[in-house]
Amino acid sequence: MPSLPLLVRQGGRAAALAPGRGRSGTGARPAGVYPTRSIIDTSYSAHFMDFKRSSIPSSMQKLVVTKLSPSFREAVSVRTVPVPTPGDAELLIRNRFVGINASDINYSAGRYDPSLKPPFDAGFEGVGEVVGLGLSASSRYTVGDSVAYFGSGAFAEYTVVPAKETVPVPSVKPEFLTLLVSGATAYIALKRLGDLTKGETVLVTAAAGGTGQFAVQFAKRAGCHTIGTCSSNEKAGFLKSIGCDRPINHTAEDVSKTLRNEFPQGIDVIYESVGGSTLELAVNNLANKGRLIVIGFISGYQSASGIPPFRGATLPVKLLQKSASVRGFFLPHFLGDYREALSSMMQMFAKGELVCKVDCGETEPEGRFVGLESVFRAVDYMYAGKNVGKVVVEVTPAGVSNSKL
Ligand SMILES: NC(=O)c1ccc[n+]([C@@H]2O[C@H](COP(=O)([O-])OP(=O)(O)OC[C@H]3O[C@@H](n4cnc5c(N)ncnc54)[C@H](OP(=O)(O)O)[C@@H]3O)[C@@H](O)[C@H]2O)c1
Repeated sequence: MPSLPLLVRQGGRAAALAPGRGRSGTGARPAGVYPTRSIIDTSYSAHFMDFKRSSIPSSMQKLVVTKLSPSFREAVSVRTVPVPTPGDAELLIRNRFVGINASDINYSAGRYDPSLKPPFDAGFEGVGEVVGLGLSASSRYTVGDSVAYFGSGAFAEYTVVPAKETVPVPSVKPEFLTLLVSGATAYIALKRLGDLTKGETVLVTAAAGGTGQFAVQFAKRAGCHTIGTCSSNEKAGFLKSIGCDRPINHTAEDVSKTLRNEFPQGIDVIYESVGGSTLELAVNNLANKGRLIVIGFISGYQSASGIPPFRGATLPVKLLQKSASVRGFFLPHFLGDYREALSSMMQMFAKGELVCKVDCGETEPEGRFVGLESVFRAVDYMYAGKNVGKVVVEVTPAGVSNSKL
């Protein structure tokens, strides 16, 4: 996935420098007393590594795509590699939590960047603490800072990330992870493509999932009547709790029939993530001047083509007859909106106005998703439709980190 420029702290702290290096102790001396030397050299980053306090090991585990396949288990292997060293503008982050995305299997199938050949790193997003950094990165961060990021290679115990692609967060909470991709997608897609007006009806499919939960809440905040599809009564209960007016459990109710009976004028805005027959029924239930936003088509991702079958021959007729539209949305195309979206969602969360539901697989027979290897179970869990909220894996449990920070 293309990387996003994330929020960076303005005028933040600098890291403490090793004695005799860098800025410390140079201020009072007249210029030219010391022999000239290059300020940035490759050895520098090592001086910013917090070896003493955080006990960075020499090797770590990471998940690597070794074979292109939409089956995550087939495509991905666990590798033991040296812990990487950050370059000048980079951070070494000890990942505490990483987020699972439906597209992790599109990525492992090579669908994002066909030029990318295995082996390559997996995982899109993480939150953790800075345990090492390069010189110029130290103008914004220091060891011990909590950061979140959206970038490649998150499925690892440690990840090196360019500082400009990270966002400072108040603490290492998994809730912040829910906003980077899932929250931002809902926020920006509805704002830029939804044209929501108070009193309109909004249908969200896969509504109890990572991004769906946010689409429901943002539509509700806009004063819309919200409808959400999901696959269990437990999920329907969760949807009620976040303000969804009409949860529809598609395993117990015929979604099309329910929509026709209860919303005979059709649906004004549809946030559609499932594709295939769900997309078909969504198109058929659009209102006059309705807007359908294509967010994804998860029902096809596990297949060889990645695309679910869709009977679209009559689509132009249906759209014309209703003056309706179908709009595609892909987060990396909306980078200009990203900063505002993230800071607005962080504020809502801080004020208790936004539920960021995290699902670490607590009810799973094998236990919570703890440790890097549980990424495999977590991907299966999402594709079994079990998750309520954003699927998150705790890579390094709090007690395992030696950091005193
Ligand atoms: N366009 C973008 O920039 C962008 C960004 C982020 C995400 N997305 C898309 O948003 C969608 C949701 O992604 P997410 O990461 O937030 O996942 P998620 O909603 O947390 O989890 C996926 C949910 O989809 C449903 N599902 C799972 N497998 C399915 C299948 N085979 N057929 C039909 N439904 C299935 C399940 O919900 P139920 O069992 O309750 O139906 C499951 O809980 C995906 O289509 C993803 O590609 C797009």
